[in-house]
Amino acid sequence: MVDTGSDTEFDLIVIGAGPGGYVAAIRAAQLGMKVACVDKRGTLGGTCLNVGCIPSKALLQSSEKFVEASTHLANHGVKVTKVSLDLKTMLGRKDKVVDGLTKGIAFLFKKNKIQSFTGAARISGPGTVVVSASNGKSAEQTITAKNILIATGSESMKLLGVDVDEKKIVSSTGALELAAVPKHLVVIGGGYIGLELGSVWSRLGAKVTVVEFLDRIVPAMDTEVAEEMFKTLRKQGLEFRLSTKVTGAENTKSGVALTVEPAAGGDAETLECDVVLVSIGRRPFTEGLGLDDIGVVTDNRGFIQVDNSFKSSVDGIFAIGDVIPGPMLAHKAEDEGVVAVEMMAGQSGHIDYNAIPAVVYTAPEAASVGATEQQLKDDGVDYRVGKFPFMANSRARASGEDSTGFVKILADAKTDRVLGAHIIGPDAGTMIAELALAMEFSASAEDIARTSHAHPTLNEAVKEAAMAAWSKPIHI
Ligand code: FAD
Ligand code: NAI
Repeated sequence: MVDTGSDTEFDLIVIGAGPGGYVAAIRAAQLGMKVACVDKRGTLGGTCLNVGCIPSKALLQSSEKFVEASTHLANHGVKVTKVSLDLKTMLGRKDKVVDGLTKGIAFLFKKNKIQSFTGAARISGPGTVVVSASNGKSAEQTITAKNILIATGSESMKLLGVDVDEKKIVSSTGALELAAVPKHLVVIGGGYIGLELGSVWSRLGAKVTVVEFLDRIVPAMDTEVAEEMFKTLRKQGLEFRLSTKVTGAENTKSGVALTVEPAAGGDAETLECDVVLVSIGRRPFTEGLGLDDIGVVTDNRGFIQVDNSFKSSVDGIFAIGDVIPGPMLAHKAEDEGVVAVEMMAGQSGHIDYNAIPAVVYTAPEAASVGATEQQLKDDGVDYRVGKFPFMANSRARASGEDSTGFVKILADAKTDRVLGAHIIGPDAGTMIAELALAMEFSASAEDIARTSHAHPTLNEAVKEAAMAAWSKPIHI
């Protein structure tokens, strides 16, 4: 239903209440703007909170605990007998986490006096937005503002011949709420979603086969990290069909029959499974916004084109997050939202896109910031590599089951400036923050190496990798 607030005139209308939109709305309100935020979903938080980052991390955490209880704890001398899965409770907990966090944003909106509208927004002209109730029953409402910020996010890409029904053939949204553990789950796409949600269902007992078009998984990550992750996930029981394409899907009595063949061409074969997850990437979502009518330019992949201040081709219309080019990550959307509204308020702002971290929340986690080694090679950069394995880190040994993984730091050979960092190992996603900060401050490997790191911590592996890049590590 369209909220019937008395106000219809604002300084800023934000379309989309995902991490880009809601953060921008709050920052704009903090800067003194009168803000409206429109989202067609019944709850705030966008893809990330409702069907993305948060529910997937809730399930990753729960499924990791299941594995811990059924296998790892015994190694610590903690005997647990009769471990069994209560999937309903696990899914219910995930829903509660999502519910609590989306309500938290509603509270923050109230606190910051942001007026929330529920309905689909269409920009009928510069400064004017028409909100239609999702149920089509309530009357349309027209609201106006000096500036409009589009933060409508992205949607899953479709695969020709493999139609998602969210039951047997699911997108990430369906894969977050399967009512039973599948016997055999085939995941199409060995990227972020495929590996995270593939891990969840594999940990809970499904046979998981990942079909990947390329000859490697997680193409955005450093090759060495991807190779280590490939080895580790295979050890955990996930099966991979690399360099393979899916050419069709047929519903069968018991599930789905997928036809696959080598990416380079060759004999076709059939994979029988009960559930298929299609996770081959996401694309910008701008449907129904009326962009063509008002002349907002998009590129050939549908991303809204913006300048350095996030302004589109039309004055007064801005865009941020998944709907503009760049990594489709929640924190990137948030950072853009903050800078965009600060610039609207006359402040200056800047995002160092080279220092945006990325994390795959598998076990172990993989995390990355800055250039990969391949990128440096391709760009002809003279660089040094410093690597340190978690096997030689005392904290990893004390707490871990097997201390696989490493920290890898790439530094400029002449200046020693950190150009990129890649971690695969326990808590890699938390540890990468230190390296993102180092890059943001243009730190050298020596700067990190000479910074005191508490002992015993996993972060000492970062220090040792920095020592290795700059001079020599101590503990190896
Ligand atoms: P979104 O979060 O997509 O929000 C856009 C909002 O706009 C939606 O609520 C939509 O309803 C609304 N909307 C669209 N059109 C209209 C309209 N015309 N009128 C009104 N409202 C409209 N990223 C991470 O950084 N870390 C993670 O761990 C992570 N995990 C993920 C797991 C999954 C399964 C998925 C699918 C994604 C994950 N992501 C993760 C990516 C992350 O969710 C996105 O990068 C992020 O949500 C983008 O934020 P956004 O604000 O640009 O758009
Ligand atoms: P992705 O881009 O991460 O991975 C897609 C994979 O599918 C790639 O490896 C690609 O080579 C492969 N592929 C493409 N077409 C294919 C085909 N026809 N057959 C087989 N393989 C094919 O996309 P994904 O996993 O769908 O996630 C979308 C985005 O959501 C991510 O890129 C990321 O931006 C975001 N996300 C972020 C997470 C995080 O930060 N932890 C978690 C989940 C999603």
